[in-house]
Amino acid sequence: MISKNMENMLNEQINAELFAANLYLSICSYFQDQELDGFANFFRVQSKEELFHAGKQFDYLHAVGGKVTMKGVDAPETEFHSIIHAFETTLAHEKKVTASINNLVKHALIENDFATHNFLQWFIAEQVEEEASISNLLKKLRMIGDNSSALYLLNTELGNRVFTEPTA
Ligand SMILES: [Fe+2]
Ligand SMILES: [Fe+2]
Repeated sequence: MISKNMENMLNEQINAELFAANLYLSICSYFQDQELDGFANFFRVQSKEELFHAGKQFDYLHAVGGKVTMKGVDAPETEFHSIIHAFETTLAHEKKVTASINNLVKHALIENDFATHNFLQWFIAEQVEEEASISNLLKKLRMIGDNSSALYLLNTELGNRVFTEPTA
């Protein structure tokens, strides 16, 4: 049985994952408007990943006898001034999520809640990957600058990303 405190914190985390899913759909739409379909695809997949994260936490909370409480999700940003700005917004949000996962881990340890601590390790590794992949794309975009052929190539590359549900 999970503590009320951990239950509340996990419910907050589910809400944060759903916010992220909507933020990435909002960014997806920004790219769609510019016909940058590869970038739009990248963020569509990013959004599906966030929904998967929320689902994983939802299932865990049920499994340990907690109560899932769905809350209102804040509206994400809808205006992006540039491609770089959209990616900077993404990186800033991922860093926020990393901090909140770290905080959850800290509280799981304080409470000697080893099951939740173990559950959260998957998310610790996931956040390392998320931050690395967005930072990498930001660097590439800065390198590209206003070279439209290079941007076209990256757009094509990002169009190949597909969502695959993690097995573990
Ligand atoms: Fe996430
Ligand atoms: Fe994420």
